Amino acid sequence: MRSSILRNIALVAVAATLGAGCTQQESDTTEKKIDALLSQMTLEEKIGQMNQLQGLGCNSDMIAAIKAGRVGSLLNEINPDTINELQRVAVEESRLGIPLIFARDVVHGFKTIMPIPLGQAASWNAELVEECARVAAYEATSTGIRWTFAPMIDVSRDGRWGRIAESFGEDTYMNGAMGAASVRGYQGDSLSLPTSMAACAKHFAGYGTSEGGKDYNTANIPERLLRDVYLPPFYETVKAGVASFMCSFNDIDGVPSSGSVFLNRQILRDEWHYDGLLVSDWGSIEQMIPHHFCADLKEAAEKAVLAGVDMDMMGYAYITHLKELVESGAISETLIDEAVRNVLRMKFRLGLFENPYVAVRDTLPFYEEASLAVARRAAAESAVLLKNNGVLPLQSFGKVAVVGPLCDSPADQIGTWCFDAEPEHSVTPLQALKAKYGDKVIGVPGLTYSRDMSRDGIARAVAAARTADVVLYFAGEEAVLSGEARCRADISLPGAQTELLKALKATGKPVVMIVMAGRPLTIPEECELADAVIYSFHAGTMAGPGLTDVISGDVVPSGKLPVTLPRMVGQIPVYYAHKNTGRPASNITLIDDIAVGTKQTSLGFTSYHLDAGDKPLYPFGYGLSYTTFDYSPVTLSATEMNADGSLVASCTIKNTGAYDAEEAVQLYIGDKVASVVRPVKELKGFDKVLIKAGESVTVDFTVTAEMLAFTHLDGTRGAEAGDFDLWIAADSDSGTPVTFTLK
Ligand code: GLC
Repeated sequence: MRSSILRNIALVAVAATLGAGCTQQESDTTEKKIDALLSQMTLEEKIGQMNQLQGLGCNSDMIAAIKAGRVGSLLNEINPDTINELQRVAVEESRLGIPLIFARDVVHGFKTIMPIPLGQAASWNAELVEECARVAAYEATSTGIRWTFAPMIDVSRDGRWGRIAESFGEDTYMNGAMGAASVRGYQGDSLSLPTSMAACAKHFAGYGTSEGGKDYNTANIPERLLRDVYLPPFYETVKAGVASFMCSFNDIDGVPSSGSVFLNRQILRDEWHYDGLLVSDWGSIEQMIPHHFCADLKEAAEKAVLAGVDMDMMGYAYITHLKELVESGAISETLIDEAVRNVLRMKFRLGLFENPYVAVRDTLPFYEEASLAVARRAAAESAVLLKNNGVLPLQSFGKVAVVGPLCDSPADQIGTWCFDAEPEHSVTPLQALKAKYGDKVIGVPGLTYSRDMSRDGIARAVAAARTADVVLYFAGEEAVLSGEARCRADISLPGAQTELLKALKATGKPVVMIVMAGRPLTIPEECELADAVIYSFHAGTMAGPGLTDVISGDVVPSGKLPVTLPRMVGQIPVYYAHKNTGRPASNITLIDDIAVGTKQTSLGFTSYHLDAGDKPLYPFGYGLSYTTFDYSPVTLSATEMNADGSLVASCTIKNTGAYDAEEAVQLYIGDKVASVVRPVKELKGFDKVLIKAGESVTVDFTVTAEMLAFTHLDGTRGAEAGDFDLWIAADSDSGTPVTFTLK
């Protein structure tokens, strides 16, 4: 066992150095090519490779800059003819013919839009997440885009932050697993294939902790917490061979990431031996001036290149000041050479020197059946059934009323960060339900958009509900309310949506609420009112068919929450992997239960909110099915293990209901006593298994000491001997732990 573990460690180190899909020999050859090219480059040409600009078509200034070797990469060009013409200028008219790399944010699909990453995480299906990225790469590369700024793997525990939509949620392990799956999907079997594109692990690092859930805000993360919670997903992408990284906008404890030697050199290069490209975020080098970290653009350029940022996205810092900084001796040309090597290495790995042009096709491979099928499956698997009093799946009915601002909104269902989406290709829930149930469906949105405060449409919606046997209420957020710089201090349902729900409920008809949002919303009252609740994080082009598959029972729901649903915004941050505190919640007296005149000392003194208690509305990992599952007690192959050993934890799950169904089985481990306070439990694995009705499946997880490791007070990392609780459960708040000892 030890030898195989050591071998794996060695292989990981090599993979991280070589980049996905290339051999040592190929790597050596590439380095020789880089040396040869670098030796011919002027300082200006080197600096040009470090400059990334927004595409402006074939305008004369851009053509002149490319010809002069002042541009290394363009983002947001998506026309194949334009891309090929600009590339022709670079390859045939510049002095050294170094190809450009064309980039775009292809975050959850290019034309066929998949669920937002938060929704993909809700599928608990890494293979599906990989397929989603593969489809995105297949479509995007057909236009000449060979670099995407994805996956975003910022652990996000604050639903007020608009960019939680782009993340894989609150958990370290989940972000790492789905981030690595995305890298495999985008980059394919070899980065040099024309259908592969460089992935980009972003935003490095700690962006998900932006204070107050307000975008671009400061992050205060102690180094041990940074290393144990926020950095591991990035390292998982390094092990998966991610071709690039992107800086984050935030500072950590006063140092903006674009100027952080600690992050970009000590962690990324020295500890992780990463040899990919590090690009700034849009203007993040220049933004060190408003951060009050740099006095001017020249100082920003100096600090960023000293911190190891290889490419300046739209900051004009490098192209304006690096030459002067080198010639004045303020920075060594060696630093420039290092950065240019990383840029050239990614271009060589992409095969751009051999194949710089995109094949121009009469028709581009958008919306192919196979791609739409992946999108539909992802929309269904990302749906989380939170409540069901038996109204789902829809049984035989005469009429169904389809209501709500998200029931027929093609642009909103695809969510944020999908520049190239075409809403006319969306299939909305109303369209899909009509396709399935024909004139049994009565569609009356009631509100025209999620923030609509007008009551005019409510009466019509209620009238439709009265004529129906069941109401499907599609509530949630417009796409514009989530994503970058779209933060909300109140994360309840916007507009008059709750009022509309109450009016629908007052008809006495069963109401199924389907929430389509870009974040966890605070919906305790609405969940109480609805007879069933499905949570769908903006599920993409095929949201309609996917959700219809679930509502009808054609697909049994298997989604589980990748993020805690708070009861109230005031509970934030609220997440499952919390610390136990010295006074864990007990003897809870809620605010409405406190008798008038109660003395200060007569209530308990433990950790909870008087007006919310200590539990969220729904916990991380929670999701129902149309069937039921019975988890056996966990068995262990041993109750003790050595640091270089392992043990196997097993659980048999029986499908005790009437539907064949998939179940995301979750492994949690909690360190009972350690030299620093550890979370009560942490997700250490999951396995989504199909269990046929009446049958059982046994799931095994191998536990190793590496899974128990954390950063110690002295900065070293490793597991500590002692007792650990282990759960194999349906979610983060259920199951009975067993205990094992690490010797
Ligand atoms: C944005 C985002 C980043 C994105 C980049 C390019 O500001 O922060 O995630 O990749 O700019 O669009």
